[in-house]
Amino acid sequence: MRKMINIAIDGHSSCGKSTIAKAISKRYQMKYIDTGAMYRAISWYCIQNNLISEAGVKIEKLKEDISEIRLSFRYNFDTESSETFLNDENVEGYIRTIEVSEKVSLVAKIPFVREKLVILQQEIGKDKNVVMDGRDIGTKVFPDADLKFFITAQVAIRAKRRWEELKDNGEKLSFDKVLENLKMRDENDVNRKINPLKKAEDAILIDNSDISLADQNDFIFSIIDKTFKE
Ligand code: DC
Repeated sequence: MRKMINIAIDGHSSCGKSTIAKAISKRYQMKYIDTGAMYRAISWYCIQNNLISEAGVKIEKLKEDISEIRLSFRYNFDTESSETFLNDENVEGYIRTIEVSEKVSLVAKIPFVREKLVILQQEIGKDKNVVMDGRDIGTKVFPDADLKFFITAQVAIRAKRRWEELKDNGEKLSFDKVLENLKMRDENDVNRKINPLKKAEDAILIDNSDISLADQNDFIFSIIDKTFKE
C-alpha cells in the first residue's frame, strides 16, 4: 500500500495554488482542502450579517457568533470540484467575488478566527492523505507535512491571470482594481502578526511567472512520485 502523506501548498494570492492542489488531488486521490475558502466563507458570513462597517469588523459580535459558524466541503460530482458550505448553505458562488476579496484580509487577521480554522484544518488532516493550500499550512497547520511547496509569481502576472478569470466569470472589473487588491492582500498576508505568509524553511520554492502549467505540474508530480518511493 502507498504511504499516506500530507502536502502543504502556500504562497501569494492568485498564483495558482488551488489549480496545483486540485491536480495533485486528482492524480493521487488525495483530499483537497482550500483553506482560503474557509476565510472567505467567514468573511461572507460577516458581510451577510452586517458585521463589517467602515470602522472594521465588529469583533465582539463575531466572537459571539463564531461557535455557531459551521464550515464544510462537499464534492460536486457534476462539476468535479469541492464546494464550500456555510451552515449547510452552498456559498461557493459568493465567496470568490471582489467584495469578499476586499474584506477577507480584515477577517483573516482576527486571532480567534485563525485559531478556529487552524484547529479545523488540523483535524481534517490528522489521518493524512490531504493536500491543503493556504498561507500558513507549512508553517503553522502542518509544520511536519511530508512535502511543502511555496508558490509565487510576479504580482502583475498574477493580477492578469486573476483579472481574466474574473472576466470569464462575468465580473466587470478594471485590471488596476484587481492589481491593487492583490497588492493589498500580499501586504496584509506578509505583515499579519499571527501566522503571516512565510516560506517554511523546508518548502520547495516555485516561481511560476515564466513556466507553463504543464511544466510546473510535471515538476511537482516528479517530486511527489519520489516522496512516495522513499
Ligand atoms: O487563497 P485565497 O486567495 O482564496 O485566500 C483568501 C484570503 O484568505 C487571503 O487573502 C489570505 C487569507 N488566508 C489566510 O490568511 N490563511 C490561509 N491559510 C488561507 C487564506
